[in-house]
Amino acid sequence: MDGNGRWAKKRGFDRSSGHVAGVESVRKVITAASEAGVRYLTLYAFSTENWNRPQAEVDALIHLIAVSLEKETPGMVTNNVRLNVIGDMARLPRESIESLERSLAATASSTGLQVNLALSYSSRWEIVEATRRIAADVAAGRISPDAIDESLFSSCLTTAGIPDPDLLIRTGGDSRVSNFLLWQIAYSELYFTPIYWPDFTGDHFLQAIADYQHRERRFGLTSEQLEDDKPTDK
Ligand code: IPE
Ligand code: MG
Repeated sequence: MDGNGRWAKKRGFDRSSGHVAGVESVRKVITAASEAGVRYLTLYAFSTENWNRPQAEVDALIHLIAVSLEKETPGMVTNNVRLNVIGDMARLPRESIESLERSLAATASSTGLQVNLALSYSSRWEIVEATRRIAADVAAGRISPDAIDESLFSSCLTTAGIPDPDLLIRTGGDSRVSNFLLWQIAYSELYFTPIYWPDFTGDHFLQAIADYQHRERRFGLTSEQLEDDKPTDK
């Protein structure tokens, strides 16, 4: 979700008003995803690198995220949306952790769309964490190095049990991944749009899905192989 600051600057506002406006887009996209039957939506709300922004912006963003969660939780419950958080929660202030825990508990029994909020998250951070855990298990003799495979590694990431993303959308005009789910997006379809996040609507989200639906995902195979594997009509 990129472009909040530039959206605000273009209007002569301060950056924080861009983040406030961005919350509206989050609500719109959650609604659109939910109505379209999307099962998982991961929102990159705050990266490990974002901790290095000016302290005032960091404080405002962290506060905004906590306040927005409180405000949006009843709507998520009504719409059967389940919240999940991925990232280094230990770095968050206590009030934010408490507010997150309230939202997690309130939405825990929802069975519809799962929203994964990536907060204080970076992919390299989680890959290092997973590696540390696996190394400790090997050192303690709990697992053998031969037992380390892709599925074991995946199960040590913050996204354990969540399917890899089919589609990655980046708003704001930059064509890069910026430390987001690097392991998990190996075969994801990438979609870049110049639209700043506060201008991004439910319709824009559906346009991205429509674009995705026209792509052929070959996973390293050939088109012909995929044709051969298609179930035939009886
Ligand atoms: C995305 O908007 C929001 C966060 C990173 C939290 P930016 O704040 O990165 O907006 P730009 O890139 O400066 O426009
Ligand atoms: Mg940015």
